[in-house]
Amino acid sequence: MENSDAPHILVLPLPAEGHIKPMFNLSKLLSHRGHKVTFVNTHHNHNCFLQFTDIASFQTQFPNLHFASITDGLPQNHPRNGALMNYYPMLISRGPRSLLAKEFRELFLRLVEKNEQWQPPSCIIADGLMSTIVMGIAQEFGVPWIPFRTYSATCTWVTIHMSKLFQEGTLLQNNQEIEYISENMKNSSTNIPGLGNLLRNCDLPSYSTILMANESINRDFYIQETLAMIQASGLILNTFEELEFSIITKLAAIFPKVYSIGPLHTLYNTIFTTNSSSTHKDGSLRREDKSSITWLDHQKEKSVLYVSFGTVVKLSLEQLLEFWHGLVNSLKPFLWVIQNDLIPKNLPIELEIGTKERGFMIDWVPQEEVLAHPAVGGFLTHSGWNSTLECIIEGKPMLCWPSIADQPVNSRCVSEQWKIGLNMNGTCDRFIVQKMVKDIMENQMKEFMKSAKEIAKKAHDSTKENGPSYHNFENLVKYIGLRKV
Ligand code: UDX
Repeated sequence: MENSDAPHILVLPLPAEGHIKPMFNLSKLLSHRGHKVTFVNTHHNHNCFLQFTDIASFQTQFPNLHFASITDGLPQNHPRNGALMNYYPMLISRGPRSLLAKEFRELFLRLVEKNEQWQPPSCIIADGLMSTIVMGIAQEFGVPWIPFRTYSATCTWVTIHMSKLFQEGTLLQNNQEIEYISENMKNSSTNIPGLGNLLRNCDLPSYSTILMANESINRDFYIQETLAMIQASGLILNTFEELEFSIITKLAAIFPKVYSIGPLHTLYNTIFTTNSSSTHKDGSLRREDKSSITWLDHQKEKSVLYVSFGTVVKLSLEQLLEFWHGLVNSLKPFLWVIQNDLIPKNLPIELEIGTKERGFMIDWVPQEEVLAHPAVGGFLTHSGWNSTLECIIEGKPMLCWPSIADQPVNSRCVSEQWKIGLNMNGTCDRFIVQKMVKDIMENQMKEFMKSAKEIAKKAHDSTKENGPSYHNFENLVKYIGLRKV
């Protein structure tokens, strides 16, 4: 029976897959708890979602979750295929962002003015990187807004710290210095409070490397969004207390409420396995191909290295070939997510033979299922936060090749703090790849597996009923419930 009095939440992700997925999981969980949710995708992402989703069956399972779509601000015929890196710079530039903001405000007004079925929105949950867009609307209409920062607590803390220094003008100088001294001093440790020697200058979230030509647009974007985000009265994080306790405590001094509710995909499994028969998974924007699972079924236990560099990063041809040679020469079986059009036509014969014998390359897999598969023994990853959490929960070691944004911070935590993997520190020379694959899959596998299993248990425990993440989620549900208009 529909409860038309239930609170209505408007959810706005950053239009990027790695951000949409956790926000969509959260939306399904909130709607399952009886709240009404309008999930706002861009037209392009919404169309992709519709292509791969049986919407009628979805609405039967989630009657409290509706969809709305708005522009991403780019011209209709702007190419949006391939790695997000191809068009992300445009997405975050001022023109497209203001068009998106305008349409989001119009949508909000429409929902306030005439929504016969549901109450007007009483809360907005937006990606931390959409903070400048929602902050004004939340203030204007007197509704609370809670940012969901889809990075780790550590990286969130680092970006807040860096943004404040930028605002004060201190880091502007230091940043030039960082770039200037990077040749000599990139390995010296930063003095970000609370992190000891964990991060070196070269591990700081790269405001510049994502987009060299428009460095200042990119940097300004992150700073403005972060400085707006810290004005919110709460923060949602996809992490768990046992993993990042001291940093979560520090964030709690900035945000009166910090809801650490991760790993969200595991919390999702806990709640849906316990309370209903619903199995609807991630709302992927791409077609799921199960052939990778069939291939894994024929491999020996813990023998396969799973390889994926996520949805944003694009390897150069040179990097791709170095990785490929290293993988083939390691003599370990590998499952590699790679877009077909990146694979060169004329391959060196040794790669063709080695891949035929031990490799499987495919453009998209059900990653959570792959990581959970008994045949997978390790993960060569770009250290995106979702991938890191998905691997943590499966208790498998990581070989990290981070390149942009939060990835170097995540990778440093994996190798230096949690000790569940190795950091390639930017190199992808074929001999180093070969050696490090052997280290992860053979020489050091036992010790990494041991620490990975310990952290995996903590991750599972935190999402069990009465675990900290479960408890924080219930608190979030309650908080929103009290904010009915
Ligand atoms: C981006 C940034 O790269 C990352 O640093 C940030 O933390 C989030 O946004 P992305 O490159 O998409 O993320 O990486 P990641 O966060 O790991 O997310 C990728 C998601 O795609 C994962 O949830 C993974 O399960 C999924 N995926 C990837 C698949 O389902 N199938 C695949 O074949 C590859």
